[in-house]
Amino acid sequence: MIIDGKGLAETIKQELKDEVDEIRKQGGNIPHLAAVLVGDNPASASYVRNKVKFCEGAGFESTLIKKDVSISEEELLEIIEDLNGNEDIDGFIVQLPLPDHINEHRVTMAIDPSKDVDGFHPVNFGKMAQGLDSFLPATPYGIMTMLDRYNIETEGKHCVVVGRSNIVGTPMSILLSRKSKPGNCTVTLTHSRTKDIASECLRADILIAAIGIPKFISSDMVKEGAVIIDVGINRVEDASRKSGYRLVGDVDYDAVVEKASFITPVPKGVGPMTVTALMMNTLKAAKSK
Ligand code: GUN
Repeated sequence: MIIDGKGLAETIKQELKDEVDEIRKQGGNIPHLAAVLVGDNPASASYVRNKVKFCEGAGFESTLIKKDVSISEEELLEIIEDLNGNEDIDGFIVQLPLPDHINEHRVTMAIDPSKDVDGFHPVNFGKMAQGLDSFLPATPYGIMTMLDRYNIETEGKHCVVVGRSNIVGTPMSILLSRKSKPGNCTVTLTHSRTKDIASECLRADILIAAIGIPKFISSDMVKEGAVIIDVGINRVEDASRKSGYRLVGDVDYDAVVEKASFITPVPKGVGPMTVTALMMNTLKAAKSK
């Protein structure tokens, strides 16, 4: 079965809109998300556009702050300080990656954890790891929501995560191993130093691919009946497209689709759910005021 991330995102957007309409009727606090975009990375610009568009669709307020690639770290930190102190803004994100001259860790650390709707601050990350209430990182939260809404059984399953990034692989491995629903998986976190990734993947009931290598997961790495979650959004050249590129996941979709019990496509799989999760966090931030 193909998991319709885009369709599910639309459904949840409508649910969020209904809730925001009710808040508006009651004269409550309308969720307001700010996004900071530095430079002109086309993929980042596209993600941020989608976030702003989703805000409009769900009745949220949004503010986009665009800065030139030459902005200094100090200037960016000042913008973050302003957003931290701005009563109108419930939550904000700084789109990653940042230019090389800016220290991403310092930027993440500067964000007030109560406005960190990306869930990247170590305070939120630590709370997540201990099973405490926090903002969950958007992509893992979107995937957990997908598994939940599709009633995919995770308890007792063997989950293999490919890729150990701070924003996807590592938090995903923590969330799925937690005593929760979805959760209660036995998790293997694989990475570039794993001896035999193929044989690890072959043992997976649930396989989460988050490495950023087009079509890395081939058919011979997938067990019959596995659930495949493809986090990759890789741009590969395609002269037949007007844009000059097409999006390809970390999974060789055509080769794997017949084997999988559930699979997310790229695009229209995990991507829209990441945006949805960010909005759920923003509503949570607005309601906690
Ligand atoms: N870059 C890639 N994914 C993300 C995300 O979820 N949030 C931010 N801020 N940057 C990203």
